[in-house]
Order: sequence, then structure tokens, then C-alpha cells
Amino acid sequence: MGYAEIYESWKSDPEAFWMKQAEAIDWDRKPSKALFDDNAPLYEWFVDGMVNTCHNAVDRHVENGRGDQVAIIHDSPVTNSKQKITFAELQTRVASLAGALRAQGVEKGDRVIIYMPMVPEALEAMLACARLGAIHSVVFGGFASSELAVRIDDCAPKAIIAGSCGIEPARTVPYKPLLDGAIEQARHKPDFCVILQREQQPAELTEGRDLDWHSFQEGAQPAECVPVEGNHPVYILYTSGTTGAPKGVIRPTAGHLVALNWTMKNIYNVDPGDVYWAASDVGWVVGHSYICYAPLIHGNTTVVFEGKPVGTPDAGTFWRVISEHNVRSFFTAPTAIRAVKREDPKGEMLKKYDLSCLRALYLAGERADPDTIEWAQKVLDKPVYDHWWQTETGYTIVGNPAGLEALPVRIGSPTVAMPGYDVQILGEDGTPKKTGELGAIAIRLPLPPGTLPSLWNAEDRFRKAYLDTFPGYYETGDAGLIDENGYLYIMARTDDVINVAGHRLSTGLMEEVLASHPDVAECAVVGVADELKGQSPLGLICLSKGVERPHEEITAECVALVRERIGPVAAFKRAIVVERLPKTRSGKILRATVAKIADGEEFRMPATIDDPAILDEIKDALHEPGHAG
Ligand code: COA
Ligand code: AMP
Repeated sequence: MGYAEIYESWKSDPEAFWMKQAEAIDWDRKPSKALFDDNAPLYEWFVDGMVNTCHNAVDRHVENGRGDQVAIIHDSPVTNSKQKITFAELQTRVASLAGALRAQGVEKGDRVIIYMPMVPEALEAMLACARLGAIHSVVFGGFASSELAVRIDDCAPKAIIAGSCGIEPARTVPYKPLLDGAIEQARHKPDFCVILQREQQPAELTEGRDLDWHSFQEGAQPAECVPVEGNHPVYILYTSGTTGAPKGVIRPTAGHLVALNWTMKNIYNVDPGDVYWAASDVGWVVGHSYICYAPLIHGNTTVVFEGKPVGTPDAGTFWRVISEHNVRSFFTAPTAIRAVKREDPKGEMLKKYDLSCLRALYLAGERADPDTIEWAQKVLDKPVYDHWWQTETGYTIVGNPAGLEALPVRIGSPTVAMPGYDVQILGEDGTPKKTGELGAIAIRLPLPPGTLPSLWNAEDRFRKAYLDTFPGYYETGDAGLIDENGYLYIMARTDDVINVAGHRLSTGLMEEVLASHPDVAECAVVGVADELKGQSPLGLICLSKGVERPHEEITAECVALVRERIGPVAAFKRAIVVERLPKTRSGKILRATVAKIADGEEFRMPATIDDPAILDEIKDALHEPGHAG
């Protein structure tokens, strides 16, 4: 069957479709049905099944003869090391870690925060939690203490597992002081922390609270896999929303297993045993789904890459890893390819490596611009597939089902809706738009298995953020159109979320930080076009009356403040001082207009603007030399 038949078979009988996919998973108790809709518009899947994620990702492969197959390849140009871990070794390591966590009191349902760099132990920590039915929440290493503290308070972890440091090309980032700062700031205190000491910068352990990763496992009884209900959360992953408070996306165990397993062959076109590589970070959803869970669930070897696309040591790193480890499918963000293209526009580096193993390049996380796709197609001479999804869904909403049927690539479109997703374009009043018309992208409920059933501790926010605008639909926050061939085009976000180097960031959060500066009366942050990172944040600040310090001093402090409070990942490097913010007469900040001015694009003067002259002032300020902080 091709794509159209499969999509139709799902649409005509979703229950049968998902029950069939569920057969690929090892259940402790099979679910009696797929969809549970008693609580509509809140839906759940496979609720009465009992299952364990770690068993499906690790133990069952050992039982089925894959024990000697490499499960994880750690390739770390920043530490100059490589390591391979087989499924059998992974089982031993994860069972031991889980046993040690259990001995310290971690049980099913307890939360555990993981704050680690790209080392295999990060995956082992995730799997050990899943083994016990404990709910992990991984926090990206590029976030600062305050952001870690917010997450500690929201999910109230019993334990935190952290690395002593992360390694960025230009510096070692000590995680321990960030962790200590976060615990000090947070109202909730974890019972204990486990610290993985890295030789590049070991940390001093806090007596009575911190345990050493290795020594705390000594003598611990290995833990078995604890079966959990199908709707039990395997993890919480915080992502940016419109306000400063991050949203805790819940990932339900059973649907996650079933859906991710389906994607590996049908979308990424790999068979069990193949090597699969997603160059992202475990702190993001791509890292959860496609560095850790999906490849392991499907019996693939996954690559954990600790490095950057360029500079570690050069723009040939990706190609070296693909060729050396025999990678069949490679997934990264367009920004990473742009970085490589900038350093090596002719693809000279690529010629040094035999890439015959590679079948296709997959791009997601941000808009894939035509130049980047065309360049990658040309230098690689392989298909390049854009696909669109979000933290909330955990896997492809719209993509090219290359393992099922490779559909023609139309540059600018991530292709078509995957089974499970009925994607619609709606007008502001919720009426469907015609073919080719721009509107809000919404998905008819229920969302498929594995997608978020709600937000952690925030069902009201879940309803408001996703369900209330268009009753009967999930609001994606993206705007776009569908053409006459059913191809979707993503045009923009409908909220104040921006996308910097494939990282989803909240301008609202940056505004909260800027507003806390004593000299700032009012501020706005907008996303402006950035050649490398897709977008970068630009801050407009209005000073409080009577402040007469040099503007450069204040903007530099603002830049430092965002870095300190949110972290380097915010990449907030530009702020300008303006007299007033451009607003509508009703007080709404005209962010889109500011972004257009900054991008040097044509813009229409908004009819409702309060004070048109302010736009000229902004234009001048942006083009003044030395305006950046
Ligand atoms: N721990 C600590 N700091 C981190 C970090 C981590 N895990 N990850 C990033 N940072 C820091 C960086 O060192 C940088 O700090 P700086 O301002 O001192 O230079 C800052 O956060 C921004 O990092 P990054 O977004 O990685 O930008 P960069 O300029 O270092 O590199 C790219 C640019 C394009 C090479 C890089 O963004 C990249 O590889 N992107 C791929 C995107 C990706 O994987 N997205 C995931 C979704 S698929
Ligand atoms: P995240 O939750 O961090 O994965 O970010 C999801 C958001 O990134 C989406 O809602 C889009 O705005 C954007 N995004 C992800 N993939 C794509 C894509 N292929 N094309 C355009 N935008 C994308």
C-alpha cells in the first residue's frame, strides 16, 4: 500500500489502524482498545494496557537476540573520544542505575530532573527513570539557573541527575554551580542529586545531598522494568509558550511507544539494526524522540553526538560521523546545514568521505529555506526531506513518508499529513479556508497516540492554549496553507514564540527579564531574520523617566541579564533604546511591523497605529552604527 491508501485506512478506521500498530510493542497487558474518549475534548490512548518503555527500548532487544548489537554510539569531537554500548551492556547499565535510584527512594510516578550534556549517561538516566515508572524531565544545558529553578518548582522532582560540566567549543560550562544556584532559588528541594563527574571539570559534591554517579550504584540491586498504565507519563518536557512560564508537555507511555515505532520505518526508512542519527540535543524534543526513544524502541543503533556542525573540528564533522558509523538516515535542523554551507559552500569537505551508506537527510525544527534544501540536495546528491512537528506532538505531523512511499519533494513544503493527523487551515472565526488560502493550522481532535494529553499541573492552560480557540481542533500556533495537492506550507507562528537556531524561545520570557532591569520602563522583544539561525531576538527598550546613563551601558546590561536569567541559548545579543514602543490605539505592541522594519522589508502602516512617527525612529535606531548592546 502507498501513502494515500494508508492515510485513508487510518481515516476510515483509526481504531483498527492504531491497534494494528500497537502489535509491534511488547505489552505486559494488552490494551482492550486504542482511543479513550470519555473525557473529550481530552483524549487518551491505550489507557488500560500495561507496558514499560525501557523494556521496549532495551530489554526486549536483548531477549530477541540483539544483545550484541551496538545500541548507542557516542561520538564526541569536543572530548576527542568515542564509545560504543551494546544493547546487553545498556540493559546492565540502566538496570543498575535504576536500582540505585530505587534504593534512594525513587518510585513509579516520582519526578526526576535530568540536566546533562550529550553523553550516553543522559540516555541511560532517561531509560532508568522509565524503567521504574519515574517521570523524567530533561532540561537543556544551555538554560541558566533560574530556568532550571522554574522547572524544579513546577514538577517537584525527588531527584536531579546532572553532569558536572558540558563542553562548548570555546569553553567548558560547569553545570554544578548552575544546579546549586537553581536549587537555592527553587522553593522545592530535591531529596538528592546524582552527579556524573566528567574529567574535563569535576565538581565538588555537596555533602548530604549529592551522590557520585558511580559510587552510588555500587552494591545496588539491579531493577526490573515496572509495568505502567498506558496513559502514565513517561516524561515531562518544558517548552516555550507565549508567557514566561514554560509549558510542561506530558508524554504518555503507550501512545509514545506505538507512534514512535511506526515513524522509524515509515518516515525515516530504517530497519532494525540500521544506524540512525539525529544531531540535536537530549534537552529538546528531537533528542527525546530521535536520539533516545524511537531508534532504541525500533532496534536501531543511535548516535549521540557531542559537538557542533562546524568548528569541532571543521565543517566536515557531520559527513565524517555519517561515513564512519554507517548512518542510514540523518536528521538535523536547517540551521546546522546553513552553518556547514557557510563554512564550506562548495561541499569540499564532503568529498573526503564515502557517504554511500546515507539514504536521506531529514530537516525539522524550523522553516527549511529553499537555499539550504537545494544546497544540501546538490552536495549530497540524496533526497532532503523537510518535516514539520512540535514538542507537543513528539513526532511528524506533516512529512514525506519515504519508507512507505517517497512522495515528490516540493521545496518550501514539508509535504503531507501523516496518518493520525487531520490537518486543517482555519480562519479566525474557525471556518475552514479554501485550498491555497492562508490561515491558522489546526488539527482535528483527537490528536493521535503519543501526543500531549494535557500540560503538567495545568489542564486549564492546556485547554486555553490549544483547545479553546477552535472547538473540536488542536491549535498548532503555526499559520500556513494547503495547496491543491494536499501539500502543507508553514508560513509563520501565530503567537510570540520565535525560533532561534532551531530552538523554540519565548519573547514573553525575554520581555519579563528585560522589564526587571531597574532602568527599563517598558520593552518588547521581536524575532528578526538571521542568516544563520533563522531568527534572532531583538529587544526594544524604553527607559524610565530621569535615567540618563549612556544607552550602550544599559543595553549591555540587558544583554547580560537575559544571558544570566535564561541562558546563552536565548542568543539575545541586540537591544536598542527607543522613546516609545509602537502600539495600536488599544495598546497592542506592533511586533510584526517592528520585525519587518528590522528585516528591511516593505510594510504597510497599520491603520490602528497610535503614533506613526515612532516607526521612523526605530528605523533610524536600527541603522545607527553601534546600536547593539
Ligand atoms: N550547554 C551550555 N551552553 C550551550 C549549550 C549547552 N548544552 N548549547 C548551546 N550553548 C550556548 C552556546 O555556547 C552559545 O553560547 P555563546 O553565546 O557564548 O556563543 C549559545 O548557547 C547559543 O548556542 P547555539 O544556538 O548552539 O549557537 P552557536 O552560535 O554556538 O552555534 C549553530 C550555531 C548553528 C552551529 C548551532 O545553533 C547548531 O548546531 N544548531 C543546531 C540546532 C539544533 O540542533 N536544534 C535542535 C532542534 S532539531
Ligand atoms: P519545537 O516544539 O521546539 O519542536 O518547535 C516547534 C515549532 O517549530 C513549530 O510549531 C514551528 O513553528 C517550527 N517548526 C518545526 N518544524 C518546522 C518545519 N519543518 N517548517 C517550519 N517550521 C517548523
